[in-house]
Parts: sequence; C-alpha cells; structure tokens
Amino acid sequence: MVSRTIPVDPFDLVLFGATGDLAARKIIPSLYRRFLAGQMPAEARLIGAARSELSDDEFRKLVRDALNAFVSEGKRDAETIDRFCGQCSYVAVDAKGDGGWDRLKELVRDDVVKAFYFSVAPSLFGSLAEKLRAHGIACDDSRLVVEKPFGVDLETARKLNHDLECAFEEHQIYRIDHFLGKETVQNLMAVRFANVLFEPLWNERYIDHVQITVAEPMGVAGRGSYYDTSGAMRDMVQNHLMQLLCLTAMEPPAHFDPDRLRDEKLKVIRALDPVSAKDVVRGQYKANGENPSYPEDAENADSTTESFVALKVGISNWRWKHTPFYLRTGKRMSRQLSEIAVVFKHTPHSIFDREEGQEPNSLVIRLQPDEGIDLAVTIKEPGPGGMRLTTVPLDMTFADALGPTGSDIPDAYERLIMDVIRGNQTLFMRGDEVEAAWAWTDPIIERWEEKGDKPFQYAQGSTGPDEAMKLMHRDGRSWRSLED
Ligand code: BG6
Repeated sequence: MVSRTIPVDPFDLVLFGATGDLAARKIIPSLYRRFLAGQMPAEARLIGAARSELSDDEFRKLVRDALNAFVSEGKRDAETIDRFCGQCSYVAVDAKGDGGWDRLKELVRDDVVKAFYFSVAPSLFGSLAEKLRAHGIACDDSRLVVEKPFGVDLETARKLNHDLECAFEEHQIYRIDHFLGKETVQNLMAVRFANVLFEPLWNERYIDHVQITVAEPMGVAGRGSYYDTSGAMRDMVQNHLMQLLCLTAMEPPAHFDPDRLRDEKLKVIRALDPVSAKDVVRGQYKANGENPSYPEDAENADSTTESFVALKVGISNWRWKHTPFYLRTGKRMSRQLSEIAVVFKHTPHSIFDREEGQEPNSLVIRLQPDEGIDLAVTIKEPGPGGMRLTTVPLDMTFADALGPTGSDIPDAYERLIMDVIRGNQTLFMRGDEVEAAWAWTDPIIERWEEKGDKPFQYAQGSTGPDEAMKLMHRDGRSWRSLED
C-alpha cells in the first residue's frame, strides 16, 4: 500500500500560544511530522507568537525540545530538525495591547496561505481576532483556528461566535475537535457510506443499541484547575462524544462536503431528546493506596465535579426512535479504550437454541488502542458434536490489514492542520453545531447545579460507579467489557 503525500500550498502559520503545553505536545510535533512526510513546502513557515520576549533562536530551542520530547526517536534526526527550525521564527505580541503587531505584520506574507492558530485561553479569542483585522494582517481568505473549550455553555459559546464573527466569516473559522481528525473516526464515514453492507441495516429495525466509550486510565492531576470547572460532561461529552454520536447517527449527506456533512450532524443534535435525571450517572474517583482522589487532584476538597459520566440518550427521528445510544467516559478507569459499538438485534427467529451460543452481531469501531474495525459474527464451532455456535471477530486491525500504512497512523492534529491549509472545513465544527450541542448539554448541567447533585464514588482502575452498570442492566443490556 503506497501512501500519497501531496504537498500543500506555501503558508504562514502564526501560532498564538506558541510557548504553551498544547503547542509543545501536539501542534509543533504534528507540523514537524508533516514536514518529514514532505507535505510542508520549503517556503512554508511557522511563526510562533506569545507574550514572552524570545529571540528566534530561543523559540527554535523550544521547538527542538518539543520535538525531542514528543516525536518518536525513529522520526527525528538533527539534520531534519535543523531544516524544520530554519522555517520557524518568533514574535512577541501583546494580545490586549499594541506591542508586537507591527512586527507581525512585517513578517506575515501576503502571497501565501495565512492561518492564525489560537492555542490560547478563549477569553483572548475576540481580542486577537480584532487585532489581526485592525492591523491589516488577516485578510478575507485567511484562516482562523480555535481550540476547545469553545465556551462553557450556550451563552458563552454564542459570545465567542459573535466575537470571532466580528472579524472573520464562518467559512474562515476552523473550530477544532481533535476527535474528528482521528483516522478511525473518518473511517466510520467510509464504512457507512462507501459500502452497501451496513447502511440498509443502520436503523432502529436492526440495531438494538449503540454504546460509545472513551475510558482513560490517567487522572486530572496537573490540569485540575481547568477540569474542575469543566467535568466530564463539558470536557468530553459536549464535544468529542457528541461528534462520535453524530457521525454514527447522521443521515448520509448528499456530498462529502463541509456544509452538507455539518448540516446532517446538526440535524442529529437537534433531534436528541432531553435527558432525564434517571438516565445520567455521574462519578468521581476515590483515592487508592497510590493515587489521590479526584478532589485532591483538583485541589478542591468540596468538589462535586464529575470525573466520569454515563448517559442514555434517545434520538427522536425515524431512523433511531427506539434505539438508545449509551455514552460513558471517565478518568482513572481500568484502561485506555475509545470505541463505538453498534450492537445489532437478535435474529427475528432462531432455528438454533439460544443456549447453543447464538449472539447478536456487533460492529465495533476502535479509535484507540489498535485502531480498527471489528465485526462479530456467529458461526458453527468446528467438530462433529452437533450445531454448537460461537461468535468470532471479523477483525480488521489497520496495522495488520494495511501493512506499514496501517500502523503508521498520523496524529489527529496532522490531518487537521493540513486541512486548514487546504481550506477544507469538513472535520471542523460549525458555529451553529457547537451552539446546538451546548443547548442540549446545558439543562443536564443546570439540573445538577440546582439540586446540588453529588457524584457517586468509584474505585480507580474500575469501570466507573456501579450505578453506571445499572443504567444498562435495567434495560436488559450491559456495557462491553473494558478488559483486553
Ligand atoms: C481532550 C480532553 O480534549 O481530550 C482531555 O480535554 C482528554 O481530558 C483528551 O484526555 C482525550 O484525547 P485523546 O486524543 O488522548 O483520546
């Protein structure tokens, strides 16, 4: 399998927040990997921008440190890093004042793609956007990239949209949800819309339920002050899990084009039923011998923020009316696992005894680890002992099926940054989509706040609180195992 790398047009990517954590962990290493793959042209440049007064060489040192820390050893050598650094420069800017903007204007070229990446606190989005326009640095086809969190509720998201739209138009704004850049998430669309096999079955008649899990073993230590004002609902459900739900549930768009796709996702969000109190379970991890509890990690002894949430979600449309979607996500769970499991119904009539082992089919889209797709089918167990049935996976682990291309899966940010330069908004959230997601999430959070709801406690390394199990059991269903 040959991978095709087509260089993008020359660009100036101005990275605000260039000295920050996300820049070092994700953005700079991802750009470097595209450079290594031959996709970043020699005339393209990364211009770091932040408050600190740094020289170009001091910034290049930060770039080198980030690459040494976050790019695997096999992918870095001194000569390539030197060439990459040769395309990096730096300017100190004052987001709220006038310092540095004239210098930035001198640096940014007019005859290349101009992209401005805001990897900064959302409170600075409006001011940065306004300065870029006021100083004549951004133009009508410049691109603006913004990171999450995009607001903490509908009102704040509307305000951010308004602030950005004062200076840029919607077709210029790229709101990142990095889950959309994950290879398997895009594969979900390929599986659904490039094969005839699944779509006829993709509805409430054949699908019993869908379960979406994003479980993480790590806690929130180190980012507790952000997380404690957010919780799993705002940090993960409103954006990442919502996007996975939308791509699973949406109607086929007429074209694979940004607005047609986002129109379909928006229709799903607008068809979501309000979630009643009995259909949500919140959890908080307890201390164990080794690690502190959630409130200790968050440095807030009285915290009622959830580090785990599970929900049962209904979609009121013809396709999904009687097929619930169960979502769960949490920190300090037993293992890293992100997957979408589409669980089909039993056959309408079985000619075999149920005891003989007939199980419903399931299609599992694994985001991580071991990106791949797994279809569980029932077959006859080999041997002369009668019709004993067993369920086996038709497993397509990309690393096995696609050779080197399948194991060398790019980071979501690599795809997303290149899409910004290419001017392709398909994998970015539109303003109305984000607002609709908040409009659905807000009442759930407000109810917790009004009632002073306290999360259930759960053991670290577990699957979350027992109540999350009961959420499924009471419907005669169960969560898929988190074991290997
Ligand atoms: C981020 C959340 O958006 O996504 C984190 O803020 C979470 O809390 C992370 O850990 C998960 O992303 P990934 O790509 O590591 O699965």
